[in-house]
Amino acid sequence: MMKIIRAKSYQDMSRKAANLISAQVIMKPHCVLGLATGSTPEGIYKQLIDWYNKDDIDFSQVTSINLDEYVGLTHDHDQSYWYFMQKHFFQYINIRPDHIFVPEGANLNADEVCRNYDRIIQRFGGIDLQLLGIGVDGHIGFNEPGSAFELGTHKVRLQESTIQANKRFFAHEEDVPKEAYTMGIKTIMQAHKVLLCASGTAKAAILREALYGPVTPQVPASILQMHPDLTVVVDQEAGACLPQEDADATA
Ligand code: GLP
Repeated sequence: MMKIIRAKSYQDMSRKAANLISAQVIMKPHCVLGLATGSTPEGIYKQLIDWYNKDDIDFSQVTSINLDEYVGLTHDHDQSYWYFMQKHFFQYINIRPDHIFVPEGANLNADEVCRNYDRIIQRFGGIDLQLLGIGVDGHIGFNEPGSAFELGTHKVRLQESTIQANKRFFAHEEDVPKEAYTMGIKTIMQAHKVLLCASGTAKAAILREALYGPVTPQVPASILQMHPDLTVVVDQEAGACLPQEDADATA
């Protein structure tokens, strides 16, 4: 079942999504969160840190298993997703360091990295709540168009449009890694709950295609239509092309 929550602004989207994550942690303190990087979740992490500082949320029993990582980047590379998570979230909260997982980007042995990661996900009993952004080409994690729906963690080649979209974070375009390790769509679909967030005009068209178009590997996020517990939180701009009747009333 899909539920669409419309937010007024990026800040409002962040607060609404943070509320759902917070509810998950309160209901199940030892839960496994599947977390995501990108500009979209930054505000969510800020909000959660704020509530953590107010003693409203406790991450001491939480496990975090991130979606993806660039191949070849070490933890201390400022564009690695490991670094992103520390910088924007983990350094501010009381999550146990041994409960933080991001695919090992620095390890070039893809088989080993992917096998290990799938084992970790299994060992912790799967993901309770998976947070997702969406790429302009419809990717989730780094599952690019054409990715098979039945894959676990695997190595991917990034699409040119993804490299273009992500180059803003690197000094030079040629510095953007061409490959990544990503949790597969099979694993994402096995999460008990999925929380997809989108903000800004650039996401409006792809979001409509993903949520109301045909379910096809050409639009990886379209598989989420089949997820039994999908919540989508959009700001006004990202939600602009979605049918009005699905709108949850927000002032
Ligand atoms: C990246 C990440 C995705 C993310 C997407 C959108 O490529 N691998 O997990 O959802 O880009 O990013 P943003 O939120 O910055 O638009």
